[in-house]
Amino acid sequence: MFEAEATDGHEVDQTISLFNHVTAKLSDLDLEMVKSVKPGGNWNDIPLKTAKKSKRLMQIRNSGGRTTYYGRLRPDLPSYTINTYFNRPGNGTFIHPERNRLISIREAARLQSFSDDFRFYGSLSSQYKQIGNAVPPLLARAIGSMIPASRAVDLFCGAGGMSNGLIQAGHKVIAAADVNNHMLETYGENHNQTKSVKSDFTKNKDITETIQSIEGSLAGKTLGLLAAGPPCQGFSTAGKRKDDDPRNSLLFAALKIVDTLCPEHILIENVLGLKWMKGGDILGSFMQHLESLGYAASWHKLYAEQFGVPQRRRRIFVLASQTGNEFSPPEPVFSRVTTGRTREDIHFKDSHLAEPVSVDEAIGDMPQVCEDTDCVEYQPSNTKSRSTYQQLMRKEISYEKFIEGRSKKA
Ligand SMILES: C[S@@+](CC[C@H](N)C(=O)[O-])C[C@H]1O[C@@H](n2cnc3c(N)ncnc32)[C@H](O)[C@@H]1O
Repeated sequence: MFEAEATDGHEVDQTISLFNHVTAKLSDLDLEMVKSVKPGGNWNDIPLKTAKKSKRLMQIRNSGGRTTYYGRLRPDLPSYTINTYFNRPGNGTFIHPERNRLISIREAARLQSFSDDFRFYGSLSSQYKQIGNAVPPLLARAIGSMIPASRAVDLFCGAGGMSNGLIQAGHKVIAAADVNNHMLETYGENHNQTKSVKSDFTKNKDITETIQSIEGSLAGKTLGLLAAGPPCQGFSTAGKRKDDDPRNSLLFAALKIVDTLCPEHILIENVLGLKWMKGGDILGSFMQHLESLGYAASWHKLYAEQFGVPQRRRRIFVLASQTGNEFSPPEPVFSRVTTGRTREDIHFKDSHLAEPVSVDEAIGDMPQVCEDTDCVEYQPSNTKSRSTYQQLMRKEISYEKFIEGRSKKA
């Protein structure tokens, strides 16, 4: 789509429409704070005179808040985790590395490895959630490549980060389900080959209807892969169920579908906290349940920056197979970022691997945001920094070419 035509080895300047390049407006006080934070800095950089104007900031100063709060991204490193709050400077490290504003929705999408032709729909507040909650497509691609390419379904599909990566890995995602209309709008617009259905997995009736819908799409063929990225909180509002029963979790709703559809393989993504929830009982009981259904199951902690995502994001993936063979996790391609005692003490762990993709490589080509529209025209060849990651995001080069180029750099 964004293929730049080449003549005699020179690229022809091409104007590109960049969607979702909008950023949350800052109040005058937030702007004053943002201006005082240097790249890699945080609330500690904000002078007392400014801090005194904010009750929250004074609380953070007095009690020692998280070092990521009011953080400004460093251009030379992968970003911190992109969560759903990148519309507020006080909730993480979301200030642009050079400009006095927050990162835009498109920039956050780039840091999550969504290519530029993936558009986000629905309300702005939903778009923040769609991006912050997603599995980075390049991470889903890496883990999806470990599973034989097959017919797949994606439960709790959100905007479709998981599906996007699975499709890149060769899977055919035939059906997807989520409870949220905005998520489904974005999912549907970007995945026109997939049947997406609205389903609330706290309701048995919806689960039954989803199973019927998937069976309709399968038309008698076997389901190769069931993928799911459930939110980790339980059914605490569902009345009759007991809060301390791990089976009340949405995680277990996916197992009801496994029980009926018997997929060959299962892939579940979740936050690291799953490991510790209820002293490890939830994950333990989930793994046991998979084994009781005849699956060989294992879980793995993956570091997104090791798979080409310009972001420090750690997630748990459960992999299960009916064949009795446990899957191995994908081999890292890039080095992992580790931190020492201080925020500045950062180094790369695996020196034999290529350095992870940095924020500047990911978004250094982005044009100025325009307040009136979410579609900005720009010429990438006119921008100061060009990287193979940016080319990958514009679909000018293949994933293999991107990896090849990075490995040579190492
Ligand atoms: C962590 S996100 C999934 C992100 C997705 N895997 C991706 O890569 O983009 C969890 C999703 O679960 C959905 N969800 C929450 N409660 C649900 C429910 N009761 N039934 C179905 N979906 C639900 C949310 O709307 C959200 O999209």
